[in-house]
Amino acid sequence: MLTNQIRALARQATRTDSRSINVRSFTVTAGSRTRSVSSKTRSIRHLATKSSTASAKSASSASADSIVTTPPTGSAITLKSATRDESQFGTRPIYLDVQATTPTDPRVLDKMLTFLTGMYGNPHSSTHAYGWETDKEVEKAREYVAAVIKADPKEIIFTSGATETNNMAIKGVPRFYKKTKKHIITTQTEHKCVLDSARHMQDEGFDVTYLPVDEHGLISLDDLKAAIRKDTILVSVMAVNNEIGVVQPLKEIGKICRENKIFFHTDAAQAYGKIDIDVNDMNIDLLSISSHKIYGPMGIGACYVRRRPRVRLDPIITGGGQERGLRSGTLSPPLVAGFGEAARLMKEEMDYDKAHITRLSNKLKEGLLSIPATQLNGSNNPESQYPGCVNISFAYIEGESLLMALKDIALSSGSACTSASLEPSYVLHALGADDALAHSSIRFGIGRFTTEEEVDYVIKAINERVEFLRKMSPLWEMVQEGIDLDSIEWSGH
Ligand SMILES: Cc1ncc(COP(=O)(O)O)c(C=O)c1O
Repeated sequence: MLTNQIRALARQATRTDSRSINVRSFTVTAGSRTRSVSSKTRSIRHLATKSSTASAKSASSASADSIVTTPPTGSAITLKSATRDESQFGTRPIYLDVQATTPTDPRVLDKMLTFLTGMYGNPHSSTHAYGWETDKEVEKAREYVAAVIKADPKEIIFTSGATETNNMAIKGVPRFYKKTKKHIITTQTEHKCVLDSARHMQDEGFDVTYLPVDEHGLISLDDLKAAIRKDTILVSVMAVNNEIGVVQPLKEIGKICRENKIFFHTDAAQAYGKIDIDVNDMNIDLLSISSHKIYGPMGIGACYVRRRPRVRLDPIITGGGQERGLRSGTLSPPLVAGFGEAARLMKEEMDYDKAHITRLSNKLKEGLLSIPATQLNGSNNPESQYPGCVNISFAYIEGESLLMALKDIALSSGSACTSASLEPSYVLHALGADDALAHSSIRFGIGRFTTEEEVDYVIKAINERVEFLRKMSPLWEMVQEGIDLDSIEWSGH
């Protein structure tokens, strides 16, 4: 009944003026009660009404718009609460796994709803208003996505996410130039989808060099220069590592690539909107973006593809020739618009987010590194470290046991793609960590909606549970007794 009424209202609204559809203004009468169409919007409005600043003036007249567009400082708590599920799952763990995915910003959801109800035209329909209006919105989103990395909107190709984009760049560019070039350079600590694409290219006859990293996770520029060959076509080095948060020297890498006429691709899934990136200043030719790492919807991302000097690539998905012929398929306007809004917000609130995340990160690090026998994985240099990713090893404890003891906090020991396997992290191995250290590491992800109270809770919980688990560890007991574990000859059975 309710759904039918919503549909009828949506139809009516579409007929009168589809451009001005705003789902927030829809209300339907169910029984004797008037209900809002969007539950998220309703919860924002509800919270907004409770917000002290708004209520001081006029609690009853506070609109969702006035709340969601206020500066982030004032609305952080309201937005934070709106990202929480209030009814279905009961009390849920504190979320500190933002590298796996970020909660959708309610402002993004608001934007998307417009396209799920009224504005349903195919953006590639060029013969009528339904197509024109969504196409206009798609192009607006493209501008927002481009602006974050100072690119031209024409250089943004929408894809299904960073996995597809990485495949597109690492397979597409070498395939296009395969007659003359046969060599690709990447690193040992890339995301699985980059490593797997590179292995795929080896199967097709390309040579791949996997650069090592130092103990902080950084590549050496001398190693890069030494690896370059006459037939090197592509260098792919990730911007921010998803497990340890280390930031590679993009500008220096870009300079080396340009001097050697080699295309430079960077997987910026964890970096886009979080660190400063200027594709022109950094000589980046291709760049991967994922919407669900920036508080946008899942299932959409983009590839930045430089137009001058032009980068050519063999498309992986062919068909209708959309997206400059580089990625065929009908675009999804709700996803594109949500992604665009997420990108717009990242740019607009970057300074605020940076300050908020850095402050909480410093507090968390201080609170956890004061625990004996702990170690920070990544770089100590703030220039080379993204603060929202804190990876710490707790010696003499299995990371998996610690995760089991921390059911009230959603955490991970590394990449979500490999979290089902009990293999120690290949990223930490590449840093020189042994199995024991790699097994005892936990990644803490801090984002826009993380609060100070949550960080305080996490510090206390980890302190208590590390102490509890170590009390059960014979190794920890031996260390307390002053025994040097390296001097022990363990029996083989
Ligand atoms: C560094 C990095 N690259 C690529 C991906 C894949 O992104 P998507 O989920 O958009 O395919 C991720 C996601 O975890 C990532 O962290």
